This record gives sequence, C-alpha cells and structure tokens, in this order.
Amino acid sequence: MKIRILERTEHDALLELLDGWELSDGWRGREFFRRYLVEDPSFEERNVWVAEEAGRLVSCVQIFPRELRVEGVAVPTGGIGSVFTREGSRNSGIAGTLLGCATEAMRERGMELSLLFAARVAFYGRLGWSSWPCTRTLLRAPATARSAPADIEIAPFDPARDLAQVVALHAAYSGARNGTTVRDTSGWRSSLRLAGNPHEEFLVARRQGRALAYTRATVLSSFLMLSELGRELSADPAAEALAALVAAALEPRANDPLAPAGKRSEEFRSRLLAPAAHDPELDRALGARGFGTLALPDPTAMLRCLAPEALAKRLGVPAPAQRSRDAVEAFLRRVLPPERFTTWLADRF
Ligand SMILES: CC(C)(COP(=O)(O)OP(=O)(O)OC[C@H]1O[C@@H](n2cnc3c(N)ncnc32)[C@H](O)[C@@H]1OP(=O)(O)O)[C@@H](O)C(=O)NCCC(=O)NCCS
Repeated sequence: MKIRILERTEHDALLELLDGWELSDGWRGREFFRRYLVEDPSFEERNVWVAEEAGRLVSCVQIFPRELRVEGVAVPTGGIGSVFTREGSRNSGIAGTLLGCATEAMRERGMELSLLFAARVAFYGRLGWSSWPCTRTLLRAPATARSAPADIEIAPFDPARDLAQVVALHAAYSGARNGTTVRDTSGWRSSLRLAGNPHEEFLVARRQGRALAYTRATVLSSFLMLSELGRELSADPAAEALAALVAAALEPRANDPLAPAGKRSEEFRSRLLAPAAHDPELDRALGARGFGTLALPDPTAMLRCLAPEALAKRLGVPAPAQRSRDAVEAFLRRVLPPERFTTWLADRF
C-alpha cells in the first residue's frame, strides 16, 4: 500500500473512487466531488492524500485551505473533507493513516486550526478532533403570515446588481462571528458555484436600492436549510428585513426549484433549519412574527488546534501551559467558545 499525495494525472481516478460514496439529494459521488476539484480555487493536488493498492486508489482525504475568523482575526485553517475508503478496504486503519498525514501536512503549511463536519463524531474524536457543538433552530411558519414592511423589496440575488453590496454585508456580519470563513471576491464567486445542493435560493432584501439583508437556502437530505444569512449591523430595519427574508423562504411556490422530487412545496416549505447565527435582534424579529422555534443541538462541527503557540501569538493571548490534548482543547474552548461559534452550510466542504 502506498500513501502519498494525488498526482496531476489522477483527477479521474480520484473521482472514480469517490463515485462509490452513496450520497443523498440525488447526487452521484463523481459529480458532487468534481465541484471541489474544478470550482474551488484553493484546490491543489498536494491537498489530497490518497492510498494506492495494486495500482488503484482505495482511500482519500482532502485538505481545504481556509481562513477562519477568531475574534476578528483570520486564522489559517485546514478544512478536512472528502474522507472516503472503498468498501473492501475499510476498518484497517487507512483513513486514520491518511488523516494523520494530512494533519502533519497542515502543520507544516502553517495551518493553526483544523475544522471538519463529521457524520462519525466518535471516529474523528479518537483521531484528535473535538466536537464544537452548536444549536440550530427549526423554524415553522407562523399561522398568519405577516407581509414585509412596505418599503422593503425582496428579490432574487442578481450578481450584477447585488454582489458588491452583499460582499460588504457578509464582511461586516460574518466578520463579527467566530467560526465563519473569510471570503474575498474570488471566494464569493466559487461559493456561488459550490453552495447549492445542487440548487441554491439566494434572496436579497433592499430598501431604496440598498441591500439590507440576504439569505441563502438549499436542500440537505430533503430538508430546507438556511445555508447562510447576513444583514446590515444596525438593528433597525435590517433585522426586520432579515426576518422578512426568512418568512419568504417559508412561502410555498409553484415549480419549487428546491423541493425534492415527489414532495409538495407546501410540505417542503412548512419548516426550515436555521444556523446558529447568534443574532438576538433577528431572534426578536422572528419572535414578533410568530415563528415557531425548536432548538436542535448539532454536534457535527469538529475542531482541532494544530499549533497552540502560533495561535496564541496571533490572538495575543497566553499559550496553554501544557501540550496535552486536554490542555490544548481547553485553551481552544477559551479563545473560540462553542457557544459563540457560527458555521455556514454555504462554507462547508
Ligand atoms: C469513514 C471511513 C472513511 C473510514 O475509513 P476506514 O479506512 O475504514 O477508516 P479506519 O480503518 O482508519 O477506521 C475505521 C474503523 O476501523 C478501526 N480500525 C482501524 N484499524 C483497524 C484494524 N487494524 N483492525 C480493526 N479495526 C481497525 C478504527 O478504529 C475505526 O473504528 P471506529 O469506526 O469504531 O472509529 C469509511 O467508512 C467510509 O468511506 N465511509 C463512507 C464515507 C464516509 O462516511 N466518510 C466520512 C464522512 S464524515
């Protein structure tokens, strides 16, 4: 068995391997993962660790270089995704070995944190990542819908008209939230191609031509998800505009582009899962509109501190006194408390 990074000529072989992954929402593995090779500007062969046996790839792990915000500071971070082993080669330590190689590579490349979204929390827990649980909110449409304030116009995102203003809203709103990913204009362009599953519904609320708030929604495992949101930081009327956008996402529509085959829009749009945005003004505006809410804990985001001294220096805080896993994790919980941690589905890999 050879453990190494991907070669330039092996893109198709990698996609052939990943095509074996049974995915939801109608995806073939090949098509889903192709996007991470061709649409993600951070893709490089050295980001993909593979195991080769008898001339064919049997397992892979991909590093997604990102910058994560911690108290307003951009921290070099290695996202981990595309973790897959062929069925016949499982349970012999291959993925664990590749994750170890990827971890060393991330450290060598100066990545101070690693983030992943796990279906198997215990598996990654044994390998060094820790769950950074958040609470998502299940929102149900109010019995009587309230229309948006008369001066607020809700319309689908139009890149030519809205991109620059939405980039600015994102920079301010996400910039104030720990755990979100820094996204420059090229990151935005790739996010627009990668965030749909495969479709995305992107709405913008504007007043007198100025964007006040936006929501992005998609479908995940047949469920309506708000994958990202943002608004002007002044609470009024931007929080109200954002609540109006959430209400708009819950309105059934003809030829619903997000509703899974065979599901009526009325049923599909009766509830949605919202991210942990930590936005009390939005919560108040949603409450005033009479939304039903249910808190749902989500343990799947997992973090690992790869370089505690470097991270402490970057943040201007004392480094942990010891290097044990518990001490490093306690340090990370102090600088990046899970209770104030936000991740957008739109940033996932
Ligand atoms: C998850 C997945 C990548 C694991 O790949 P793998 O190569 O089998 O991983 P490993 O062999 O390193 O570890 C798998 C298990 O085998 C165990 N194991 C490792 N070496 C072993 C050995 N020599 N003998 C017996 N068991 C062993 C590990 O402890 C681990 O146990 P756990 O599941 O209880 O934690 C693989 O099951 C897969 O591709 N699943 C579908 C895609 C997927 O779910 N990806 C992850 C999404 S988060």
